[in-house]
Amino acid sequence: MASSSLVPVLPLLLLLLVCPDMAVSAAAPGGSSCYTRLFSFGDSITDAGNLASLSPNISVLEPPYGETFFGRPTGRFCDGRLIVDFIAAALRLPFLAPYLTGRTANDFRQGANFAVAGATALSHDFFRDMGLNLTLIPPYSLDVQLEWFKRVLHLLGPTEQERKDIMSRSLFLMGEIGGNDYNHPFFQNRSFAAEIKPLVPKVIQKIESAVKVLIGLGAKTIVVPGNVPMGCIPRYLAMFRSINPGDYDAAGCLRWLNDFAELHNRALKRVLERIPRDPTTVTVIYGDYYGAVLEITRNPHKHGFTNLIACCGDGGPYNSGSLFSCNATSIVCPDPSKRISWDGIHFTEAVYRFVARGVLDGPYAAPSPILSKCRC
Ligand SMILES: *[C@@H]1O[C@H](CO)[C@@H](O)[C@H](O)[C@H]1NC(C)=O
Ligand SMILES: *[C@@H]1O[C@H](CO)[C@@H](O)[C@H](O)[C@H]1NC(C)=O
Ligand SMILES: *[C@@H]1O[C@H](CO)[C@@H](O)[C@H](O)[C@H]1NC(C)=O
Ligand SMILES: *[C@@H]1O[C@H](CO)[C@@H](O)[C@H](O)[C@H]1NC(C)=O
Repeated sequence: MASSSLVPVLPLLLLLLVCPDMAVSAAAPGGSSCYTRLFSFGDSITDAGNLASLSPNISVLEPPYGETFFGRPTGRFCDGRLIVDFIAAALRLPFLAPYLTGRTANDFRQGANFAVAGATALSHDFFRDMGLNLTLIPPYSLDVQLEWFKRVLHLLGPTEQERKDIMSRSLFLMGEIGGNDYNHPFFQNRSFAAEIKPLVPKVIQKIESAVKVLIGLGAKTIVVPGNVPMGCIPRYLAMFRSINPGDYDAAGCLRWLNDFAELHNRALKRVLERIPRDPTTVTVIYGDYYGAVLEITRNPHKHGFTNLIACCGDGGPYNSGSLFSCNATSIVCPDPSKRISWDGIHFTEAVYRFVARGVLDGPYAAPSPILSKCRC
């Protein structure tokens, strides 16, 4: 990376040469990319401090969380940066303020992050009615996050015209969301066939309606990521260990759980394609987090990774013998950048970087990668 100082210059030059509209915005103070703001929704894959701001004793606020990049815990469920952080950087935006840590319009002038770790697409009441223990399910589901967004939108744009303008020039990252709608019942030993699998259409419908709300408010570019390969996650691998080799794929992931994530993703893609919109002005991009992570699990060495064992954990199977097994007393691997899983549930910064690049530049985005819009 000796020429790294040249790397940002090249796309900018191309932009100036090829895109007359964008040359103007590139020169405008504060707005140096094709999107002037980024707003994100979701769960712990995207949460950069919302849950931690509410729970000061949470283990993500202890080392070794944050050790790779920030050098301290930040409330991110990772050793370093998240996908949303890499997307913000690619758009030349700063780290987004977690909604619950900001107050004024100035705090959110380049966007906001509404994601909350543990959050679900379906409402809190839905899981109460299902009889789940709500201790680990925060009452900040997608509907709540959308209400927060509307507050910020009104803070940033007092007039209708200003709000329309903000919506049309912002990038929206809607997810990943929905994974916890399945994780919570799985971790509470609910039946896969009778209780968890039947949730898929409800979860998809909730995500669809959130995308429609954003489009209704004037959003022009929305990225909607799918679920990750659940069968490659250490906590699931430890929980559903099998003596039947046929239950595992060549990468050592549990086939039935990956099949389930694929089922969710297929349904999501189908629904996204059908959302009514003006295709000349509105783009809905499917973020293929699944495909990106699966590529790493299938060819770990090619991408600089070793195995599926969590970097930080309790020494149990897959170093993930219990649900929250990474904290200040844990066994931590010497080089997180070589591991796929950080804490048994969440990925390492190294994985998030790869996924983010795949969504920004392709090939893990459909119909087109995020930055293709910035190149006209
Ligand atoms: C949170 O942590 C602080 C400092 O470690 C401790 O004094 C306090 O009792 C803890 N609070 C709860 C609710 O566990
Ligand atoms: C709910 O879960 C919490 C945290 O795992 C646990 O401490 C509590 O005992 C559980 N409550 C019930 C009623 O099972
Ligand atoms: C789920 O089942 C496992 C294994 O039987 C048990 O250790 C765990 O406590 C159960 N969890 C809940 C939330 O019931
Ligand atoms: C840290 O995690 C281990 C399991 O990995 C657990 O036994 C221990 O109680 C946790 N410590 C704290 C302070 O949460």
